[in-house]
Amino acid sequence: MIRFSRLVVVPSALAMLAGCGSAAHADAAAGKSTFTAVCAECHDVADFEGEDATAMQGTLKQMVAGTQKHKKALQLTDAQIADVVAYMTGGE
Ligand code: HEC
Repeated sequence: MIRFSRLVVVPSALAMLAGCGSAAHADAAAGKSTFTAVCAECHDVADFEGEDATAMQGTLKQMVAGTQKHKKALQLTDAQIADVVAYMTGGE
């Protein structure tokens, strides 16, 4: 019984983890504040509209990690990245 319920729980937990990266779980309003405070100095949000959210999250994570070069060294948490990407790609 215990084993069975574990098997049920694990895939749904994984699905949630995967889903957390998507715009559906992110807070675009919080992302807007981050973008305005940190990115707007150099970027116009409209430039990112319609871009692939998953790809952009990957890019930003690499920028934070320093494995992708970027004009400004970014310091963002994964949650901030998800939020800011939701805002940027949503084009709001
Ligand atoms: C000091 C200026 C500056 C700031 C601040 C800045 N960027 Fe950039 N960013 C650039 C420049 C310059 C480029 C490279 C030229 C371009 O693509 O516009 C770039 C490129 C990018 C790219 C495209 C990378 C690619 O692979 O094409 C993304 C995405 C990006 N920035 C996101 C952000 C986000 C998100 C923030 C805020 C958290 C931010 N940037 C803050 C200057 C800045």
